[in-house]
Amino acid sequence: MPGPSSLISVSNKFTFVLRAVKMPELTVTSEIYGEYNYNTKITPLIEGKHSSKTKLALVGLQVWRGAFLIGDLLIYLGVKGALKEKTILELGAGTGLTSFIAGIYAKKVICTDINLGGILDLIKLNTKYNEKLIKAEFRVDALDFTNMAWSQQLSKDIRDTDIIIAADVVYDDDVTAAFVATVQKILNTNSPKTLYMALEKRYVFTIEHMDSVAPCYETFLSLLDKVKNGSNWTVEQMTLDFPEYFTYDRVKELVLWKISSA
Ligand SMILES: C[S@@+](CC[C@H](N)C(=O)[O-])C[C@H]1O[C@@H](n2cnc3c(N)ncnc32)[C@H](O)[C@@H]1O
Repeated sequence: MPGPSSLISVSNKFTFVLRAVKMPELTVTSEIYGEYNYNTKITPLIEGKHSSKTKLALVGLQVWRGAFLIGDLLIYLGVKGALKEKTILELGAGTGLTSFIAGIYAKKVICTDINLGGILDLIKLNTKYNEKLIKAEFRVDALDFTNMAWSQQLSKDIRDTDIIIAADVVYDDDVTAAFVATVQKILNTNSPKTLYMALEKRYVFTIEHMDSVAPCYETFLSLLDKVKNGSNWTVEQMTLDFPEYFTYDRVKELVLWKISSA
């Protein structure tokens, strides 16, 4: 049974309970936009809600459910010792929270996002808040899915990467296409590598289908199908049978994929 709880807070407004299982008390502190000047006039989040007010380009300035799901998975793997000596690369990291969890257990973490709207500054600030928690060598870098001309340092880090994590980066067809192309290149660079990605199927009702469909998820599946054909990848949708360390809704639309290159 889960033991006593630890608190993980994301800014002063958000507090998440970490149900600790044989874990020391941990506190992750994170600033989200609205409490810092990120050159945006968008109104802050409403407490306890995943706001839909964020501009699409700035969705990294809040924490999404996929981040908690990957966080749960990392704690589960970390406690088992499966992340020891691993280099972990996060794509579309947002606030950086998932990378900080990875940083508790891994050897090295490269936390990346697009260099837009102050996201990288936010991650760097949050990294500072959590420096006591992060045991891994930790680097924040820009990685834009639409630009695969990686710097020398990033190319080296990607070669050395064992595990890639990505939470909630499938929400727009163009971003999804660029993300899948990036994943294809990374997974095929100095394999084997394993990607864990969490995403939330977002349903809309369309007259065309006269039904509720999750168009971005469908786009992702069809792009994934194309790139995995002819590859040596293993692709599986994971069962969510590991503990919930964070308190959030593991809604049925939340799914986790594991893709490994041999
Ligand atoms: C919905 S947010 C998820 C953030 C975080 N992973 C989470 O789950 O809380 C999507 C993330 O994808 C990033 N993103 C969007 N376009 C991108 C691109 N072209 N290259 C890299 N990251 C991108 C955003 O900046 C944002 O951090």
